[in-house]
Amino acid sequence: MLKGILKWTGIAVGSLLGLLILTVATLYFLGSQKINRVYEVRPATLTIPTDSLAQARGRHIAETQGCFECHGKDLGGEVFSEGQPFGNIAAANLTSGAGGIGTTYQTEDWVKALRHGINRENRPLLIMPADAFAKLSDRDLSDLIAFVQNLPPVDRSFPERQVGFLPNIISNFNEQLLAAPRIDHSVTSIPEVVPAANVEYGRYLANLCMACHGENLKGGIVHGPPGTPASRNITNDPENGIGAWSESDFRKVLNEGIRPDGTELDPMMPRLGQKYSEQEMKALWLFLREVNPLDSQYAQK
Ligand code: HEC
Ligand code: HEC
Repeated sequence: MLKGILKWTGIAVGSLLGLLILTVATLYFLGSQKINRVYEVRPATLTIPTDSLAQARGRHIAETQGCFECHGKDLGGEVFSEGQPFGNIAAANLTSGAGGIGTTYQTEDWVKALRHGINRENRPLLIMPADAFAKLSDRDLSDLIAFVQNLPPVDRSFPERQVGFLPNIISNFNEQLLAAPRIDHSVTSIPEVVPAANVEYGRYLANLCMACHGENLKGGIVHGPPGTPASRNITNDPENGIGAWSESDFRKVLNEGIRPDGTELDPMMPRLGQKYSEQEMKALWLFLREVNPLDSQYAQK
């Protein structure tokens, strides 16, 4: 009798375990197909300016797009993970020092990484939020590349890139891990939006906000390590969004990360006001006022 029960429990546990292994193996297989996918792209041929004004504009773009947050204050790179379960992933050393990609990277490779979210082997980059950079105009992208191509060299090497077990599983559930699948790779040229304190320029700048707050700016996206709060609704909805905010409320959040009720925002919300020019702040605010909560393009109910 006991032997019989044990036998059946054994079979049940065995089958459950088998099912579990099968599920994990299937997820791993599907995820690794996403991570190892080779993208066919035709990177735009950009002419990179050589003047110092363009490089200064490029530095400003690098500052507002968050390159320094991940690639380090000297852009010499930072380790994100070493060993299993995530693997060896480092935000690359962008300079031309020892261990830097600047020694071998061509303009075409910069375009692949920034506008397509893929590495030189045409495979998706992990964590790197290229969906935001993919919307930079040809001029802004060229200036950004002019800046990174002329960085002071930093010698810093990292272990060879190796994608661990976990990203292969997570890529099935977490859309934020890989930007490449969310980018329109057929776009080869993006016209300049002339900087001005107007709605049009604000809409262009808001491409960055959309990477975290969603295309419709309704928020609810978790972008970052476990424990990071979801992004908020920043449409004009007076209840759920920021429709009841004044311009100074908005500036305070962007400058200091403090809401009108005095609470502090998670550091995942960048303190962009400290980097934006007055013109950029004004343009963003004017655009956000235009985002009607009932507008069908933004914030669909
Ligand atoms: C949220 C963090 C984050 C931000 C912001 C970010 N990067 Fe990255 N970047 C990464 C990580 C992580 C990798 C490595 C990805 C991999 O190997 O799969 C990477 C890879 C790259 C690569 C490809 C390197 C290679 O090995 O081929 C380039 C080029 C690059 N980043 C440039 C930039 C620039 C320029 C900016 C700003 C416009 C930027 N990154 C912003 C995290 C970030
Ligand atoms: C890297 C991701 C990221 C980017 C880029 C980003 N945000 Fe946020 N934002 C967040 C997160 C996450 C929160 C919620 C933080 C919290 O709840 O503590 C937030 C909160 C906010 C809030 C507060 C809303 C409220 O009701 O409390 C405002 C306003 C805001 N963001 C505006 C912007 C604007 C404008 C941009 C673009 C210029 C932007 N954000 C870009 C992640 C981001």
